[in-house]
Parts: sequence; structure tokens; C-alpha cells
Amino acid sequence: MTSNRTFTMIKPDAVANGHIGNIINDITVAGFKIKAMKYLQLTNAQAEGFYAVHKERGFFGELISFMVSGPIVAIILEKVNAIEDFRTLIGATNPENAAEGTIRKKYAKSIDANAVHGSDSNENAAIEGSYFFSEFERF
Ligand code: RTP
Ligand code: MG
Repeated sequence: MTSNRTFTMIKPDAVANGHIGNIINDITVAGFKIKAMKYLQLTNAQAEGFYAVHKERGFFGELISFMVSGPIVAIILEKVNAIEDFRTLIGATNPENAAEGTIRKKYAKSIDANAVHGSDSNENAAIEGSYFFSEFERF
């Protein structure tokens, strides 16, 4: 089977709570290869652009202020069946509903501060990855 890629962010809550190392460990133990990685703090414009698909939703303002509240880690990952397997690894959006052993169950506190992002399709993974990395930064 051919590998494909997904995009993840370790969100401000997980960075602030000291979980970068544990989360990257869980991701690599699950068989994902890191193809690009960057530590940065999003601007308002970047966060609004990244989550533009949610701009009509009631939680948009809170989502943006949370995403700019501290640094994040942006990562492109590769694995066979990357999108689906990564969503399984991170668990449900609301950590209260996330399965035991998932990243959100282990490291997230609430539906807003839910530790990690995971792309929902191959198409969005490519768009999201290119938002943070030029082709020269991906290998
Ligand atoms: P993500 O995009 O961050 O990986 O999360 P997701 O696919 O599991 O969830 P999505 O529906 O794309 O929502 C994006 C982020 O918005 C916040 N959210 N809040 N209060 C609410 O009802 C609500 N719904 C979503 C979450 O922080 C979610 O990660
Ligand atoms: Mg999503």
C-alpha cells in the first residue's frame, strides 16, 4: 500500500502543559514518520485562515483566541492510511468522548483545549501542510 500524509498541530494547551515529547512519542510509536516539523505561534490572521471552514460556527471566536494563546508545533506525518489512522490515534474532538489510550483522552482537558489537530481528508492535509511548509521543507 502507498503511504499518504496527514497534518497535525500540537495545540497551545498541550505545549503549555509540557506534553510535546509525550505526544510525539505516541505518534512515532504508532508508526507515523515525521516529514516536517516547526514550532511557532500563530497570528490571528493565520489562525482564522487555517480554520476558515468554521468561521460561521458559534465557537469560532473562542477557537481562534485559544489557537493564538501560545506556541504550537506544526507537523507533516506519513503512514499508510494516515488520515484515518491519525484520527483514531487522537480520539474524539471532545476528550470526554475520546477512547481510552488516545492522545486527546490522555492529554486534553476540554473540547476547546483538545491537545491536537488532525486533518480530515487527503485534500485538506495537503492544503494544511502547505500552509506551514514550503515544498523545500518537506522531504
Ligand atoms: P481539529 O480540526 O482541530 O482536528 O478538530 P476536529 O476535526 O476533531 O473538530 P472540528 O469539527 O474540525 O472542530 C475544530 C475545533 O473546533 C473546536 N470545536 N468546538 N464547542 C464546540 O462545539 C466545538 N466544536 C468544535 C474544537 O477545539 C475542535 O478541535
Ligand atoms: Mg477538523
